[in-house]
Amino acid sequence: MPRSDGSGPVTERELGVALLGLGNVGAGVVKLIAENAEAIAGRVGARLAVRAIAVRAAAKKRLVEVDPALLTSDLNATIDRDDVDIVVELIGGTTEAKKAILRAIDRGKHVVTANKAVLAEHGREIFAAAAAKGVDVYYEAAVCGGVPVIRVLREGLASDRIEELHGIVNGTSNYILSTMTAAGTPFAEVLREAQALGYAEADPALDVGGGDAAHKLAILAMLCFGTHVDVSKVFTEGIDKLDPVDFANAARFGYVVKPLVIGKDHGPERGIELRVHPALVPARWLLADVTGAKNALYVTSYALGPSMYYGAGAGMLPTAMAVVSDMIEIARNDWAAGAGARLRQRHPPLADKPLLPMSEIRTKYYLRFAVADRPGVLGQLTTVLGAHGVSIAQVVQDTAPTARGATAVAGAPVAEVFVVTHEAREGDVQAALAEIAKLAFAVAPARLIRIAG
Ligand code: HSE
Repeated sequence: MPRSDGSGPVTERELGVALLGLGNVGAGVVKLIAENAEAIAGRVGARLAVRAIAVRAAAKKRLVEVDPALLTSDLNATIDRDDVDIVVELIGGTTEAKKAILRAIDRGKHVVTANKAVLAEHGREIFAAAAAKGVDVYYEAAVCGGVPVIRVLREGLASDRIEELHGIVNGTSNYILSTMTAAGTPFAEVLREAQALGYAEADPALDVGGGDAAHKLAILAMLCFGTHVDVSKVFTEGIDKLDPVDFANAARFGYVVKPLVIGKDHGPERGIELRVHPALVPARWLLADVTGAKNALYVTSYALGPSMYYGAGAGMLPTAMAVVSDMIEIARNDWAAGAGARLRQRHPPLADKPLLPMSEIRTKYYLRFAVADRPGVLGQLTTVLGAHGVSIAQVVQDTAPTARGATAVAGAPVAEVFVVTHEAREGDVQAALAEIAKLAFAVAPARLIRIAG
């Protein structure tokens, strides 16, 4: 293997790269390595040489021109090649990708992946295998695409203690909500636009259902709070149930609807709070200005205080940029390792910290009730909320019968009541809503959107 030993002119050294997959991101990687070859060689002290590209169908039309001799359908042989130092996993999914990553590690190759799902679900096994073999696993592109948040958390804030994070980490969801807010375009149409722009996952349910964001949050929690996360236990609510009336009312109360991930360390007794859901954020908060497919991570840490990292979280070249930067870091490590240093990326030991149950979180809430518009109803509604310790900050009622199809109940017209609460416990809010749903004046189940920031 042409591994470096730190000697000789930099441009004589080469690191062999194998790409597994040549879709959107793979094509961007090929393009970037070719276009920036000289600059990369200068920065790295070695050339990145793509030796093979494993694809399912060699004949398929590609987004980038490649030497057909590089294409092969033999994934395992590609990983095993003696002239390959770095295996770049871009096949996606969890089953085949996990096998390929573990095989690469077993063969002593460094791995770069953009695959948040495989790391969120099998990271424990993958990182343990890499540590045992002394190889690197880099994954900058897995969270916030091209925005180097992994490096920030791993290195830039290495001496700090992260208390809380708020992130917009799914470009598709942000694009959809931003466009619905600005133009009132229907959900399905905006989703199709996002897919055409290359932001969406192969299965867009992962984007709009919050699964993709939950995978990314699990990775962030590992880095920020030093814990493994069972991603299936993270509270995850998608953006697909939002109604246009809530966008209008968010604005009325001074908020914008955003697809958020939230993480907070409550200490060893209470555990880690992790949740994925659309949220109302104050229109004057920095995250409210993160629109379109852009991503951002807003971190609150002990020493630095608040800091925010913003940019393109999806798309061909931004994601490829992060992948190639990972290769550059591996090449530098490789050189240093050859010279006797031990610079390999090491994850600090991860604990299995408890997750704070969702019923225990505390936040503010936006609530929408459809009720019979007759005397005493507002009083009963607020009495139930009060009895559960939920204090009201603002109330607005629309007497117009706009209540999602219902026009009258028991002879009374229907009104919609919009409530913003002070901070309350989720379990108490849910108990109040369940009680209200049973009362005669309730026309439909209440709608709840959490408020953040
Ligand atoms: N589908 C993802 C998104 C791509 O929309 O953000 C980047 O992970």
